[in-house]
Amino acid sequence: MSRIYNFSAGPSMLPLEVLEQAREELLDWRGSGMSVMEMSHRGKQFSAIAEQLEADFRKLLAVPDNYRILFLQGGATAQFAMIPQNLLGGRSKASYVNTGAWSGKAIKEAKKYCQVNVAASSAEDNFTSIPDRAEWRIDTDAAYLHYTPNETIHGVEFQDIPDAAGLPLVADMSSNILSREVDVSRFALLYAGTQKNMGPAGVTVVVVREDLLDNADQRVPSVFNYAQQVKNGSMLNTPPTYNWYLVGLVLQWLERLGGIAAMERRNIAKADKLYQAIDASSLYHNPVQRQCRSRMNVPFILADASLDSAFLAQAEANGLHALKGHRSVGGMRASIYNAMPEEGVDALIQYMAEFERTH
Ligand SMILES: Cc1ncc(COP(=O)(O)O)c(C=O)c1O
Repeated sequence: MSRIYNFSAGPSMLPLEVLEQAREELLDWRGSGMSVMEMSHRGKQFSAIAEQLEADFRKLLAVPDNYRILFLQGGATAQFAMIPQNLLGGRSKASYVNTGAWSGKAIKEAKKYCQVNVAASSAEDNFTSIPDRAEWRIDTDAAYLHYTPNETIHGVEFQDIPDAAGLPLVADMSSNILSREVDVSRFALLYAGTQKNMGPAGVTVVVVREDLLDNADQRVPSVFNYAQQVKNGSMLNTPPTYNWYLVGLVLQWLERLGGIAAMERRNIAKADKLYQAIDASSLYHNPVQRQCRSRMNVPFILADASLDSAFLAQAEANGLHALKGHRSVGGMRASIYNAMPEEGVDALIQYMAEFERTH
């Protein structure tokens, strides 16, 4: 068997240990005589898996007791619509910070339901920075303030949780959840698809403060209504049971490694050495302002774009997969989520140096 280093932005690498455990348990889950895929979501065995999943997530992210954890479908994209549908509570306005492609998509969707006040935007500098908090113009009669802590495409990450001027703060943590410690009590709601830091695609985790659950418009379909999903333990319809199980295995792997604090140290080490290699080179360049560079998604451009295809082809030949940047920004992007081992980053740095030497 040969495994490559997969730098894809998501779905992305999974820990080998997790895949091996899933293979081990595939046909007969712990003496049950069946695969998790074959279990009823209402049965005793799967209920135990679901309870463990929630308990492990709560413990890892230190989610306070007054927050509910949901495991939903539809990705973060569904949340772009569910958030206004559930949180407006009769208000006509919501406030959004625009720091890149994913903020933009959230804003576009929210506009179907309310007026959007864009409190700040870094569009003018091509989303390579985060507007200074002092310059944000937050509409204080907005129902909430939404932002994207890590912009997966532009490689821009908030290093601190912004002050929301008293509004409920909502965060799309799709590409940096569980990669760094966060104080959940600062948020009204946070959400993330699982396909980057938590497992395969198909599950969306939503953490929502209890007192916000009664704000949904009554016409919101039941499966899109947070309160209804809370009441039904995220099983208002049949959940993607096998994916829940796989996410659970990833959380247990994280816990064994020392939890989020240990993972954050690893992530800092990986990102630091990759940025150092980029900064020290004359071929590669990262356009993002240093203080908001992402630890998860590292975009870089080659000084001579005619070398792009050779760079990518030789990278693939060296077992370094999916380094092509998003089509909207071009260049390269290395996504180095939790499951990317430090050795993968070392292999990339070594390859980049060798490519620079020979070109
Ligand atoms: C920050 C961010 N938000 C939202 C999404 C969309 O997620 P999904 O495809 O799960 O709806 C992505 C996916 O890459 C993302 O990186």
